[in-house]
Amino acid sequence: MIIEQNKAFLLNGNNFTYAIRVNALGDLQTVYYGEKLSATDLDFMQKSVADPCIPALNELNRETYTDGLSNEFGSFGRGDYREPTALVVRKDGAQMSSFRYVSHKIFKGVPEVKGLPHARSGGDTLSVTLKDEFSDVEVTLNYTVWDELGVIVRNAEYKNTGKDPVSLKKAFSFAVTLPERDYGVLRLYGNWAKERSPQVTPLGYGTVRVQSLRGSSSHCMNPFMGLLAENCSEDAGECYGVQLVYSGSFALTAEKNPANGTVRLQGGVNDTGFEWYLEGGETFVAPQAALCYSSEGLGGMSRAYADFLRERVINPDRVFARRPIVINNWEATYFDFGYEKLCEIIDAASELGVDTFVLDDGWFGKRDSDTSGLGDWVVNEKKLKGGLNAVIARCKEKGLKFGLWFEPEMVSEDSDLYRAHPDWAMHKAGTVPVRMRNQLILDFSRKEVVDSVFGAVSKVLSSHEISYVKWDMNRTMTEFFSAALPAVRMGEIAHRYILGVYDLAERLTAAFPKVFFEGCAGGGARFDAGMLYYFAQFWTSDDTDAYERTKIQWGTSVCYPVSAMSCHVSACPNHQTRRTTPFATRGAIASLGATGYELDPSKLTEEEKKETKAQIEAYKRISELVLKGDLYRLSSPFTENYFCEMLVSKDKTTAYLVGERFHGDPNDYMRILRLNGLDDRKTYRIEELGFTASGKALRTVGVPFPRLSDFGGWTWHLTEVK
Ligand code: DGJ
Repeated sequence: MIIEQNKAFLLNGNNFTYAIRVNALGDLQTVYYGEKLSATDLDFMQKSVADPCIPALNELNRETYTDGLSNEFGSFGRGDYREPTALVVRKDGAQMSSFRYVSHKIFKGVPEVKGLPHARSGGDTLSVTLKDEFSDVEVTLNYTVWDELGVIVRNAEYKNTGKDPVSLKKAFSFAVTLPERDYGVLRLYGNWAKERSPQVTPLGYGTVRVQSLRGSSSHCMNPFMGLLAENCSEDAGECYGVQLVYSGSFALTAEKNPANGTVRLQGGVNDTGFEWYLEGGETFVAPQAALCYSSEGLGGMSRAYADFLRERVINPDRVFARRPIVINNWEATYFDFGYEKLCEIIDAASELGVDTFVLDDGWFGKRDSDTSGLGDWVVNEKKLKGGLNAVIARCKEKGLKFGLWFEPEMVSEDSDLYRAHPDWAMHKAGTVPVRMRNQLILDFSRKEVVDSVFGAVSKVLSSHEISYVKWDMNRTMTEFFSAALPAVRMGEIAHRYILGVYDLAERLTAAFPKVFFEGCAGGGARFDAGMLYYFAQFWTSDDTDAYERTKIQWGTSVCYPVSAMSCHVSACPNHQTRRTTPFATRGAIASLGATGYELDPSKLTEEEKKETKAQIEAYKRISELVLKGDLYRLSSPFTENYFCEMLVSKDKTTAYLVGERFHGDPNDYMRILRLNGLDDRKTYRIEELGFTASGKALRTVGVPFPRLSDFGGWTWHLTEVK
């Protein structure tokens, strides 16, 4: 709901209020962001915002000197010494800017965000247009809220309304001023096979910048930042979060002002190496950012983000539909397979109850290792006798569907595609390119490149019975150079690349609506709301070790729903860590997401086969909770000897709890697990323990942790008894 009172605006979601106003000088300012308040307090809220017109501040010339004020758009070269929200360079080289109010409108629904993933529907939007005093650039700031959701979605559109071109050296999506507090900054950092570890450090004075310059949101830093108040814990206290609906190089900054302790939080497309050239009449649309305020700790924020992504971002035809349980051949064979080997896998898999066999890397071109073949999306019939159709026929005979791996954005130098179009790779002729996994990245800023890949992938999809695609992406961006872009536009390449990726994803998912697409990027390098708009789930990490996965999945759940995490049971010793964990534990941990298998089923023991069948049957029972439930994180793998999470149905009548004990420790046998997240007034039966207790008792008294040996896992099913 949006309420307007004399150019002051109160934007309410289900548990927060965000208030802004236009002041006497035309500055748009944050008035308040926090716990939900009513419009009757809007006047009072405004009185507590520093006002540039109050007499005591006149000597600072508040007409222009805006340092420390809560402006929703940071200017440059006019007395605001924090980092600006945008940098506009005029024809005469001047860079100062100051954006002030021109107009606003309020409307039902979401704004159009051309070419970018975005919140899809519903809500109320406020659009405020500001104009730069020094150039013809106007910026329109969009704010969308939903009565039933805990997020506010923001973005900015930059329009050059004049005749002379300007360039934007920075064009962030949003800025907001948070109240003075001692915040901790939460970021999700990582690496390959170690994605999204939460780290909290004090914000302190000055700027903390969380970013990626890799051309993708990356393994190393997720496009998310949390600001945690001193009282914030997993279950209580206040925090703010921001996540970008964007998959390219990004930056999020939090800057605490020494003068008054307020914090400017802002972000968008990374400005390093960025320069967007705007001809007269052209517009640059910055990606959306979803801001969240929670008064129920980090857990509350995670649940608000899960609801937002499931309800408004992820493909509505896919998000709540039962996911295919797949078996993938990558770790079973790597590149070393032929028709016979795949048949062994398919035959064995068909006994287990999985839905789909997914053929991973190595089926196309000259692809027996990672040194060649990428870009040649034509089946390698020498390797795969009878082609894909023979494999598909075998799947059908055995009652399985068929899925296929692609890496559409890449090219090997040893490929027909590269030999025909060397300039389609993103590199500077005459220099040695940085090779990663022996491959180059295609220049997706060029429409003809995207068109050609669309044609090649479509040809395979339309000529075979394929129900599932795994879209991989295995390197980061270097040599930001396009053979096709003019010099003045070279700073646009990284963003144009990602627009090309979105274009291809949009076209392929629209052309093949029956195909289920899963995202992947060397594991979870592009696990972000941007990709989730197209792909309902993403390969969470190449690390499937049941201990490491507790940490990776815990960290990922900070701002993504478990249903978006693709989680597989793999063979032991684990290929990434060499650790051996019980088969049951691997199944339990993989059930906290879109489950599947990543192993050679023909090598399973009879016992393991039985166990797999049982896991799949058990998963079907809880799959609704995975798709729609609320997640409560109960025991952290980062600080405890136990991992434990629980999914609770929205009506709180059923719950599913998964845990793992890491190491034998003679002293932790008395530890108590408190089940937060149930309804205090309801009575529950824990099936596996055979007892009933009230939700309140389960929360306060708790249940002893089960005594298990190293890496022992367990699952409990809770049902309300009337
Ligand atoms: C990286 C992915 O994360 C793996 O699952 C697998 O698909 C390989 N790429 C194949 O090259």
